[in-house]
Amino acid sequence: MSLLKKIDLIQKNFKTELASAINDSSKINDLHNKYLSRKGLLSQLFSDLGKASSEDKPVLGQKINSLRKDIESQLADLNSETTDTNKIDSDLSLPGNYFPEGNIHPITKVIDDISSIFNKIGFSIFSGNEVEDDFYNFEALNIPKHHPARDMQDTYYLQNDKLLRTHTSASQIHFMEDNQPPIKIISPGRVYRNEDISVRSYCLFHQIEGLYVDKNVSFSDLKGVMEYFSKEYFGQDVKVRFRPSYFPFTEPSAEMDIYWGLNSESDYRITKGTGWLEILGCGMVDPQVFKNVKYDPSLTGYAFGIGIERIAMLKYGITDIRLLYEGDIRFLRQF
Ligand code: PHE
Repeated sequence: MSLLKKIDLIQKNFKTELASAINDSSKINDLHNKYLSRKGLLSQLFSDLGKASSEDKPVLGQKINSLRKDIESQLADLNSETTDTNKIDSDLSLPGNYFPEGNIHPITKVIDDISSIFNKIGFSIFSGNEVEDDFYNFEALNIPKHHPARDMQDTYYLQNDKLLRTHTSASQIHFMEDNQPPIKIISPGRVYRNEDISVRSYCLFHQIEGLYVDKNVSFSDLKGVMEYFSKEYFGQDVKVRFRPSYFPFTEPSAEMDIYWGLNSESDYRITKGTGWLEILGCGMVDPQVFKNVKYDPSLTGYAFGIGIERIAMLKYGITDIRLLYEGDIRFLRQF
């Protein structure tokens, strides 16, 4: 066997033997003797080097030298690790390592849970944009300039006639522009309103928009789906009620409340002492909206917008909405 091959072989063997010597100080010692002692394998390599041609000597010599250094330092490393671990192993009363677990933000959790309920009955998810313009957020939804309904949604305006959407209803328009009926989507996301910040309101919050468009869709379809969703999410004996309401883009319109009860202080605070909580606005799509997206206005459909924060607050007993946005780890770890 040529000297070069011998060097390679010794290097390979050392690697495997080193792996099996981890945490075993007597094996490490054996390796030391086998490779580095006076009659060890490295010494033999050096004596073989004497027989090599003067041409090959410098290269081979260098190789053997660096192999020796390598073996020395690896054995030394392993030796110091082994003594350290031995010390730790022997103290069985030491506590284990703590690795903090991440968790899902309550808002994300509510959105995920509600989305999967609607997925089960055939709604697919469409993501809209947070930056919109007047047309998508207002005009196409039948809210012309100077309409009093704009006052309900105090808007953040950006440069170049852009704005931060005040509701996820803007997604309805985008989806209808790009798709033909039948349509069955939900669109979750963040919305912005320039409101005074308090325990109950914040300058941003989340909604899940829903839109169903087809022939012969009726208000009772809407009611049925809203009741189905409430039972799936809040439990089979949840009580719900519909109140007539007004939205420029639906006719007729309603708001739905669920009865949560008054069992804790946070229930009192969040439901303002009534036990009822308004969780969504809904209604039949106004034919004018169909005209705005160049649909046949004789089509029928319903839309709804679910408020996420209130549901999250009630479900998890959170009394101050601001906690949901501050990213305080002491709060977030509780979920
Ligand atoms: N966009 C309305 C709001 O933010 C909710 C809504 C959505 C109402 C869809 C009817 C239909 O208040």
